[in-house]
Amino acid sequence: MLQRLSAVIRRPMFWHGTHHHDSNDATKRLFDTVSSTVKGIQQINYVVEHDPKLTAEEKSKMKQFLIYRYDPADENDFPKYVSYYVDLKKIPPMYLDALLYIKDNYDSSLSLRRSCREGICGSCSMNCNGLHKLACIHAIDTDLTQPAYITPLGHMFVVKDLVVDMTNFYTQYKTIDPYLKRKTPKEGNKEYIQSVEDRKLLDGLYECVLCACCSTSCPSYWWHPDRYLGPAVLMQAYRWIVDSRDEYTDERLEKLAEDVKVEDCQNIGMCSFTCPKGLDPQRSMNHLMKLIEEYKERKIASATL
Ligand code: SF4
Ligand code: SF4
Ligand code: FES
Repeated sequence: MLQRLSAVIRRPMFWHGTHHHDSNDATKRLFDTVSSTVKGIQQINYVVEHDPKLTAEEKSKMKQFLIYRYDPADENDFPKYVSYYVDLKKIPPMYLDALLYIKDNYDSSLSLRRSCREGICGSCSMNCNGLHKLACIHAIDTDLTQPAYITPLGHMFVVKDLVVDMTNFYTQYKTIDPYLKRKTPKEGNKEYIQSVEDRKLLDGLYECVLCACCSTSCPSYWWHPDRYLGPAVLMQAYRWIVDSRDEYTDERLEKLAEDVKVEDCQNIGMCSFTCPKGLDPQRSMNHLMKLIEEYKERKIASATL
């Protein structure tokens, strides 16, 4: 039975459809996307009870999880929350534990990504009760009087349930050449030596697990995911720019200085607020923008010599 959700403010903001990257039919693609989105906007305020037979007494002893479910490939399906009740005494404390319990015990068709269960692989990123987090290292709110909402990362195309299409994110990551680039030939099998101070510059950058929690929390990225690279990718661009072993610093800065790859940052800091690894992409972006400005000034100065 369907019920209307009163907490409309919690309605997630994402596209209830998929990106059909390999389709040549642009009109059909647009129509599919728009129609599935409209369908989502009409229907998302509904809750389906997974087990309508549960009594109020039974429910009061368990935690309610309202999980976004939708399969865009099924034309009879529609975006909705499905309500599941879980006895928190039976599971470990993280949101991923609840999701795996539900998948194992209630409904194996629930789709989500996960791998390491240790906050290392970055694959279980999703919205847990209003914040983009890694579900494996984010503790469940244990207040049984309040439901926990679990939805996909915001403003992403939904592939199914909690799985979103990461293609654009990874394509953007690839554009920054996220690897060491050298001009001088390598001497045999010698390592590229770094001073302790130079190595320290990479702290707070190399730990990024590319979960996209920051980019998908960024309002500028919501509006221009096609041309603005977003905090996660820009922080990694900065990571290679400040790496003392890399010899393509100016080329990297030149590429980033083009159009609005960087400049759409409004410096509000949602990215750093949400990062589940405690990193500070906003700070990196500020440093990066300063380096780009300095590079532009150097370029003008050398052109006028
Ligand atoms: S500080 Fe910049 S990158 Fe971070 S969320 Fe705000 S606009 Fe996005
Ligand atoms: S900076 Fe943090 S939130 Fe952003 S991708 Fe890296 S680990 Fe995830
Ligand atoms: S499962 Fe790997 S980060 Fe959560």
